[in-house]
Amino acid sequence: MTARIGSISKASLADRVGGAENGICYAVRNARDVIGNAILRPRQDVEKAWHGISARFFAGQETGTTQKARCMALERIISAHSADPQEDALHVALRPGRLAEMVGQTKVIEKLSIALQAAQVRKEPLEHILLDGPPGLGKTTLAHVVGHEMGVTNLRVTSGPSLAKQSDLLAILTQMEHGDILFIDEVHRLPKIVEEFLYPAMEDFRVDFTIEGGLSGRMVNFALKPFTLIGATTRAGLLSAAMRDRFGHHYHLEFYATDELTAILERSAGKLKLPARGDALARIAARSRGTPRVANRLLKRVRDYAQVRADGVLTEDVVERGLAIQQVDTYGLDDLDRAFLKALIDIYDGGPAGIEALAATMGQERDTLEDVVEPYLLQIGFVIRTRQGRQATRAAYEHMGIDSVPTRVDSDGDEHLLF
Ligand SMILES: Nc1ncnc2c1ncn2[C@@H]1O[C@H](COP(=O)(O)OP(=O)(O)OP(=O)(O)O)[C@@H](O)[C@H]1O
Ligand SMILES: [Mg+2]
Repeated sequence: MTARIGSISKASLADRVGGAENGICYAVRNARDVIGNAILRPRQDVEKAWHGISARFFAGQETGTTQKARCMALERIISAHSADPQEDALHVALRPGRLAEMVGQTKVIEKLSIALQAAQVRKEPLEHILLDGPPGLGKTTLAHVVGHEMGVTNLRVTSGPSLAKQSDLLAILTQMEHGDILFIDEVHRLPKIVEEFLYPAMEDFRVDFTIEGGLSGRMVNFALKPFTLIGATTRAGLLSAAMRDRFGHHYHLEFYATDELTAILERSAGKLKLPARGDALARIAARSRGTPRVANRLLKRVRDYAQVRADGVLTEDVVERGLAIQQVDTYGLDDLDRAFLKALIDIYDGGPAGIEALAATMGQERDTLEDVVEPYLLQIGFVIRTRQGRQATRAAYEHMGIDSVPTRVDSDGDEHLLF
């Protein structure tokens, strides 16, 4: 990580953030995004992002409610998005290095290992791979594992939004050696012009670009060495069909089962030299919303609790008490999930409600709700998606302790329970 972010030094960024008394959560959260993405984003983007944040914040455009909701997003312990660079370092340390160490995702792992072996036998680069699934399920981890298995020491990592121009991508592609791997995170956020530039690179390992000069530009065709592109996305639906079709393999990552998360936690606890007894780890796993990143994060919180309030050993009791402080409930839902359900139930009578409307009510970004909150609520059957919008189910009402499931009046004037 560089000490400077765009033209702003880290120290001055911290000062600006630290000096702001009101609405600090919003500024901090966004500043973290800025810091977190600084490596990947070009300088102008970082500066623009920072100016946008500070302008909105200092102009006082944030209302109390919006700030509160944003605070929730910042504090959100169970958010599957990574929260800060220090935490990223922890996740990197806990990341499996080889395919055999990957827990769960058995179908994906099996298909992938066949593809890997076949490529190795043929001594060819792997076909391009698209990984999709909600945040924190292991897309980046898998990309690194594939690199490792293919013996690629120099995995190139970039992301859709950081490739603003064709030349950004050209600079990377022309340096790729035979069999190298390029990992593009958030591939659905590649600008159109860069995406189209990538097509011939993926298909025929060549790029076409125009050299400006004289009256007209000159088209140049440049051959690349065969390489493998690994694209990751939380939104496969936003990828163009042309892009999707150019990937030879498309793997969808699913939420993990509790016993798989327990196995991941056992490995992590071992690495952290953290003793655990009985079902302590299984209890953390049960509240990790099917997501390894959440599981590892909760483990870290419970470790803090165990070291400060107990004797450093994870027991079931310590886990329960540690998690209660974090306000993570038995389903692993936190304040933001509950705020989503409450808005849907209280304000929209259980729905159907559009995601934009819900986002506006909660003062949240639509993307946050769609990427981080909704997938798990859909998975556990608390929310269903209909043509008209999102709808809370009976299970959600029960979990929220709200009895009155709304009734719907039909054309004869009779009332029917919705569920
Ligand atoms: N199958 C797995 N086995 C063990 N640990 C895993 C597994 N998958 C993920 N993890 C752990 O979860 C953490 C988060 O995974 P990763 O960063 O790969 O998620 P991601 O899908 O890339 O998320 P994002 O969409 O936010 O980029 C990893 O650092 C690793 O510690
Ligand atoms: Mg990732």
